[in-house]
Amino acid sequence: MKDFEAVENFDDLDQESKYLVHKAKDATAHAYAPYSRFHVGAALILQDGTVVTGANQENASYPLCMCAERVALYAMASLYPGKRIMKMAIVAHKKNHKELVPAASCGACRQVMVEFEGRQKKPFEVVMLVEEDKWVKCSSAASLLPFVFTKDNLEAPSKSKP
Ligand code: THU
Repeated sequence: MKDFEAVENFDDLDQESKYLVHKAKDATAHAYAPYSRFHVGAALILQDGTVVTGANQENASYPLCMCAERVALYAMASLYPGKRIMKMAIVAHKKNHKELVPAASCGACRQVMVEFEGRQKKPFEVVMLVEEDKWVKCSSAASLLPFVFTKDNLEAPSKSKP
């Protein structure tokens, strides 16, 4: 698979992606987003078929808001430690609107996804709606974050001068 595969409409996604998108959409029901009114759902499928979902959780102290992706990833790590993530789907809609709206994962979530790929030493696919009815399937989280900072940076001996 290439780094990115554009899929023009939902029906053209593979079966597993469609299933996971539905699970992510269901998860938006548990978003707590009274401030942004932007309801995000994320769903992960593990190697054994287990699905773990998350929804964004906001706070009156805005910087404490937590994205759906990280809610799902941290729940997965706590509930199913050591299990491998195969794919992640992310969707969003605005309150009182049934239609999904484009929502590419934020940079912080991409950074966390890459850490999870490092932990499991295997990439996982990411499926998102990036434009109106334009889905993108990414072969890995790392492909979403070039020149990423990882634990290798902390371990590598410094050779270059400032
Ligand atoms: N949000 C997510 O849940 N995931 C993202 O990748 C981007 C943003 C949430 C955070 C906040 O609750 C709301 O969307 C508006 O930014």
